[in-house]
Amino acid sequence: MSFQIHSIRKLPFFFFFFTSRSSPKVSSRISPSSSAFFSTSIVGAEDPILVRDYIHSALYDPNYGYFSKRSGSVGMLETSIKFNKLEGRRAYLRHLDKIYKQSDISWFTPVELFKPWYAHGIAEAIMRTANLSVPLKIYEIGGGSGSCAKNIMDYIMLNAPSRVYNSMTYISVEISSSLAKKQLETVGEVRSHLSKYRVECRDAADRSGWGDADLQPCWVIMLEVLDNLPHDLVYSENQVSPWQEVWLQKQRDSSNISEIYKPLQDQLIKSCIDIIDLEKDHTTGGSRGITAARNIWSKAFPKPRRSWLPTGCMQLLEVLHGALPKMSLIASDFSYLPDVRIPGERAPLVSTKKDGSSTDYNSYLDAKGDADIFFPTDFWLLERMDHYCSGWKPDVKDQASKKGKKRRTITLGTDQFMEEFGLPTKTRTKDGYNPLLDDFTNTKFYISVPTHNTK
Ligand SMILES: C[S@@+](CC[C@H](N)C(=O)[O-])C[C@H]1O[C@@H](n2cnc3c(N)ncnc32)[C@H](O)[C@@H]1O
Repeated sequence: MSFQIHSIRKLPFFFFFFTSRSSPKVSSRISPSSSAFFSTSIVGAEDPILVRDYIHSALYDPNYGYFSKRSGSVGMLETSIKFNKLEGRRAYLRHLDKIYKQSDISWFTPVELFKPWYAHGIAEAIMRTANLSVPLKIYEIGGGSGSCAKNIMDYIMLNAPSRVYNSMTYISVEISSSLAKKQLETVGEVRSHLSKYRVECRDAADRSGWGDADLQPCWVIMLEVLDNLPHDLVYSENQVSPWQEVWLQKQRDSSNISEIYKPLQDQLIKSCIDIIDLEKDHTTGGSRGITAARNIWSKAFPKPRRSWLPTGCMQLLEVLHGALPKMSLIASDFSYLPDVRIPGERAPLVSTKKDGSSTDYNSYLDAKGDADIFFPTDFWLLERMDHYCSGWKPDVKDQASKKGKKRRTITLGTDQFMEEFGLPTKTRTKDGYNPLLDDFTNTKFYISVPTHNTK
């Protein structure tokens, strides 16, 4: 029997088919009353808000946000999985099912499921690429349970010259106070790490938290962070009408929230639209005759369009390039998500776990602190945004040219990355099945390093 596991964060859902689980544990920590309060308080009646502000509150509101309150929003395995002791795929899936049943966790991320090997691969990529004659400085944004930080520091302690470990710093920038606390506990399991490690509990996309620009080389790691960054939504009535920003407003005399549409005015949204070249479909190209035909067609058969824009990622990249101009970046995330019900290009999954089973919502407006909202990453767009935020403005006619580029970039499948930098034998079962290489076909790594170009 062949299973296609699209996304590890959807695994619990998959397991219900696999094991016909009957009475699973209750995992929802948000009571109905608290989420009801939350839903009416984030969108005021008089003041509409952008979709990205709604998503930011739904995920990160200090009191009601999904990542702030739920201890189970990022899972942590008590012990590493011994892949070499498992027979094959069936045994691996059974083992995972047992772990999910035992825990109160919505999902485990790859850095957790494949610990310490996943983070060791990242540490090896850093060690092979970094200039180790200057002190190594690593920032991790959204470090979750702290496993990545601990495993990377363990690897450097055991594999790098001792002066590299002794002079290194590892700074975690974490928006959730409960996860920041957990990270410090995890890393603190190895006492010698503590003098080199600190957690700053803040929003990494807020420039003021970074202070003056740091001109020294450093590394920035982001694992499954891009997918949880706020996005905006633009809407167009039909195939030819202009894109409009989506804002949210509470309906009069009710707690329901509805969308309203405004002409483009937000700078982040406009920049994203320029970078994607979203307007090109109907504003350029074609003769007058074609344009007229398009107009008639769109009136006769109007097809509303919705497009999700990674404005949170754009803002974070702008801030990072401003604060850490010599950073090297390693980010991994979903390139594709299955079974998305929300309409629009690059639309998110909105998923909650109740009574042990995962449920996907049909509307992003139903996410009120009790659901994860996660987006696929368009790695082509990520690369363009990275170049744009680094200050590279390509000649419009010559987009492919490398001239003047400030970054050297590469996107690799997780299997390619781990085959190059990891130890794939450690995540292989007895019959040769390797979940890290075989099942993560919808996740990729993005690596971006500075060039010597300063103009
Ligand atoms: C899905 S979890 C991934 C955790 C971990 N990297 C892993 O792979 O297991 C997303 C993490 O990013 C954090 N996060 C999201 N937005 C952030 C921001 N703007 N600044 C700092 N941390 C953020 C969340 O609190 C959480 O720790």
